[in-house]
Amino acid sequence: MGEQSPEKLLTPVLSASWDQEDSWTLDNYRAHGGYRALPKALAMPPDEVIAYVKDSGLRGRGGAGFPTGMKWQFIPQGDGKPHYLVVNADESEPGTCKDIPLLYASPHALIEGIVIACHAIRSHHAFVYLRGEVVPVLRRLQAAVAEAYRAGYLGKGALGAGGDLDITVHAGAGAYICGEETALLDSLEGRRGQPRLRPPFPAVAGLYACPTVVNNVESIASVPAIIDRGKEWFRSMGSEKSPGFTLYSLSGHVARPGQYEAPLGITLRELLDLSGGMRPGHRLKFWTPGGSSTPMFTDEHLDVPLDYEGVGAAGSMLGTKALQCFDETTCVVRAVTRWTEFYAHESCGKCTPCREGTYWLVQLLRDIEAGKGLLSDIDKLADIADNINGKSFCALGDGAASPIFSSLKYFREEYEQHITQRGCPFDPARSTAWA
Ligand code: NAI
Ligand code: SF4
Repeated sequence: MGEQSPEKLLTPVLSASWDQEDSWTLDNYRAHGGYRALPKALAMPPDEVIAYVKDSGLRGRGGAGFPTGMKWQFIPQGDGKPHYLVVNADESEPGTCKDIPLLYASPHALIEGIVIACHAIRSHHAFVYLRGEVVPVLRRLQAAVAEAYRAGYLGKGALGAGGDLDITVHAGAGAYICGEETALLDSLEGRRGQPRLRPPFPAVAGLYACPTVVNNVESIASVPAIIDRGKEWFRSMGSEKSPGFTLYSLSGHVARPGQYEAPLGITLRELLDLSGGMRPGHRLKFWTPGGSSTPMFTDEHLDVPLDYEGVGAAGSMLGTKALQCFDETTCVVRAVTRWTEFYAHESCGKCTPCREGTYWLVQLLRDIEAGKGLLSDIDKLADIADNINGKSFCALGDGAASPIFSSLKYFREEYEQHITQRGCPFDPARSTAWA
């Protein structure tokens, strides 16, 4: 990111008015240029909008980084079937907190993005699948959708010559697996949310077996700014393969946790400068670049560019850009145990490696943490993780194995210490808790 001062690296676009109490209202959104992109997009033929978004280089902000325009292009045209847009607002990856704040503070950015995306893929019905626990966000989103209907942005003739558009806001019941796109579709159809076999991908057979685009909240909400300010402006930020601005969630032992909107390719060192650093008197020990399912990094990785290529080359994944930072007081075995308990609890049970493997990982980790483990348990942990990774039905299994591998890579001696010292070196009281 060169020699600029850290503040200059912030690119408040989606978050520009979040500090204003009425940021979520239609009036506020319009006062800040909202719904300016919409007539421009509606005046373009659908294929042109798709090509424009593709040229901008926007990549999916839900974790996988799949090119958004390319995903839209997969939707077959003239097939006679209804097309659907489904917005994945089931944000649940540990440490990830950017879609929910975005929906709460700026729901009209998503709604405008939905109208543009539906015009592009020729859809007349969009669904927003929101995690059910966030009731105030649900209410605010519903209120914003109602405002958009009243203002004519939704409903009859919303797509101009393209016809009508409706949005249904659906609250899930709080299962992490329903953030997996095909489990989400099953849940939306009224079934128990469990991943489907892919292919066929949703673009071919998605909601009600019809062509469906499933996009993350931040991806869709970024589209109006791209149309309004131009693809060149978007490409002027970030890197060639990972262009644009994005929302990073910074959490853990940092002085000022929160959402930071900056170009892709910024480093954690720069983000820590922006957020007041680690809490006073402490230093960074380990961190996740994209939530707990991405391999952890240490203080050696402070200068890794936070884009898909940079993080990948350093041995992890950008994922949801959830930067969870832990200082030297944190027991890595405890942190990994806690994450693994989460994955074991959220495993949907459909496939054996994940269902059984995450259970056994938890048993071993709890024993090691309590000082009741054996040195041979460390290899057993790695072996079980190896039998989950790449052998599970969906990405949850790989995500559960990831903190095991990376913590063993960087902190194996800390596992050994728990075993040889018969307890947690960070919190001796915890050793007796399991006795
Ligand atoms: P994926 O790479 O399999 O797919 C990404 C997207 O591209 C999907 O929408 C898929 O349908 C589409 N796609 C891929 N290949 C395609 C093809 N040949 N034809 C048509 N469409 C195609 O990744 P996946 O499994 O959907 O997501 C995994 C990511 O989700 C992880 O990287 C993780 O970071 C993230 N994640 C995010 C969470 C959150 O709370 N936001 C929670 C858990 C995981
Ligand atoms: Fe379910 Fe886990 Fe298998 Fe995914 S990997 S299908 S969450 S059991």
